[in-house]
Amino acid sequence: MEKRSTEREGTSCNGCALVPRRDFLRDAGLMAVGILVTLGASPARAAAATIELVSPVSENREEKSYAIPAQDGTQIDKDNGTMITRWQGKAYVFSLACPHQNTALRWHDKETEFECPKHHSRFDPEGNYVKDSGRATRGLDRFVVRKDGNNVVANLDKLLQEDDDEAAWKAAFVTV
Ligand code: FES
Repeated sequence: MEKRSTEREGTSCNGCALVPRRDFLRDAGLMAVGILVTLGASPARAAAATIELVSPVSENREEKSYAIPAQDGTQIDKDNGTMITRWQGKAYVFSLACPHQNTALRWHDKETEFECPKHHSRFDPEGNYVKDSGRATRGLDRFVVRKDGNNVVANLDKLLQEDDDEAAWKAAFVTV
């Protein structure tokens, strides 16, 4: 089994500080190597995988439009702190920040799940929280999205938390 990152292990939650957005984005960029590239890839492919960093294909003040990945997988827009994920007929735009204390998330290919390197919360590819893992109390935060042709358009002013508006959170995807 793949050894998971131990960086920041042993950090007490009581000592955790919210990560400033600028630092978070910097960390997200640095940790991109450890974050999901291609969901569902075989271990051999994963070993050779490269991170696919993307930028919006178009944008206005609050909306970012991304090309929907051609196959199941995730792409990262580190400048905007988003992950564009296609998984089993749906596309999502997640925040790259852990819903507990904003740590940039990582992806483990063998387990096909996200993990927070700080307190080890885990999430499935749809962003659902894996019960009793780490210290998160909800799934990955999702942006409100709409479909525009082959693109998924995320409103970065509208971030949904599962425990705040579960119905809206569940509906925050487009079909592909
Ligand atoms: S920061 Fe605590 S579980 Fe992610």
